[in-house]
Amino acid sequence: MTFPPGLISLLSRTLRRGSVQAGKLVALTGAGVSQESGLRTFRDAQTGLWAKHKPEDLASPQAFQRDPKLVWDWYAWRREAIKGARPNAGHYALVELESKIPQFTLITQNVDGLHRMAGARNLLELHGNIQRARCSDCGTYAETWDEDSESVPRCEECDGLLRPDVVWFGESLPRDQLEKAVEASRACDIFLSVGTSGVVQPAASLAHAAKNNGAVVVEVNMEPTPLTPKVDFFFQGKSGEVLPALVKAILDH
Ligand code: OAD
Repeated sequence: MTFPPGLISLLSRTLRRGSVQAGKLVALTGAGVSQESGLRTFRDAQTGLWAKHKPEDLASPQAFQRDPKLVWDWYAWRREAIKGARPNAGHYALVELESKIPQFTLITQNVDGLHRMAGARNLLELHGNIQRARCSDCGTYAETWDEDSESVPRCEECDGLLRPDVVWFGESLPRDQLEKAVEASRACDIFLSVGTSGVVQPAASLAHAAKNNGAVVVEVNMEPTPLTPKVDFFFQGKSGEVLPALVKAILDH
C-alpha cells in the first residue's frame, strides 16, 4: 500500500518528541477496528436467537425497563463472544503510534476493551465497557456477578438490578470522557477516524470539530461513510492492514 508523501511527512513531524513542531494526534475508532478480532460490527452483530431483534431496540433504558432479563441476556451473549477475542494488528498499530507521538489521544466507541488489552494508555471509552456492570438504581459498580443466574443479578448495596456499564441510546455519554474527547479533537493537528460508520452522535461530530479547527482528517474504512466526502485522505481497506502499513511508512520516513 502506498500513501501520499505529503501525509507521511506530516505524520512524521508529529513524531518529533519535544520538538516545537511535534503535533497532536487523535484517533477515533468504531466497531470496524475489532472486526478482524472476530467480533462482528455493531450493526452486523445479530445472529442466531438474536437475529430478530435490532440492536437499537435492545440497547436502551426503555428496553431494560420493559424486559431487563432480555437485555441482560443479550449483553451476556455479547460478552461471551468477546471472551476469546484478542487485539489485532490494527489495535497494536495504534499502540505503536501512541508510543511514538507525545500527544496522542485514542477515543473509542467500542465497549469490548480490546484497545486497553493491546496496551493503549491515553484512552477515552465514550460508550463504556461491556465487562463492567453497575446498579441501575444506585449506580454502585459491580466487579463480579453470577452470570448463570436465572434472573438479572442484583446490587449488593441496594438490591437494585445490575445493568451493563455501557451507554444506551437516549443516554448521555460519561461527561468527563466526552469533554476530554471534544477538547482533544478541537486541539489536534491530525484526526484519524478508523472503522466507524460515523452515524452515531456525538462521536460522529468529533471529526468535524477537528476539521473546523484546522486539523487534517484521515479516514480508514472498508467502505465510504458520510464522513468520507469531508476528509483530506481516505484509505479504503481493513484497519488491521492499513494501520500497520501507515505506521511503517511513517517510521521508515
Ligand atoms: P458500525 O457497526 O456502525 O460501523 C462499523 C464500520 O466499520 C462500518 O463503517 C464498516 O464499513 C467498517 N468496517 C468493518 N470492518 C472493518 C475493518 N476490518 N476495517 C475498517 N473498517 C471496517 O459501528 P460503529 O461506527 O462503531 O453505540 O457504531 C457506533 C456506535 O453505534 C456503537 O458504538 C454503538 C452504536 O450505537 C452504542 O452501543 C452506544
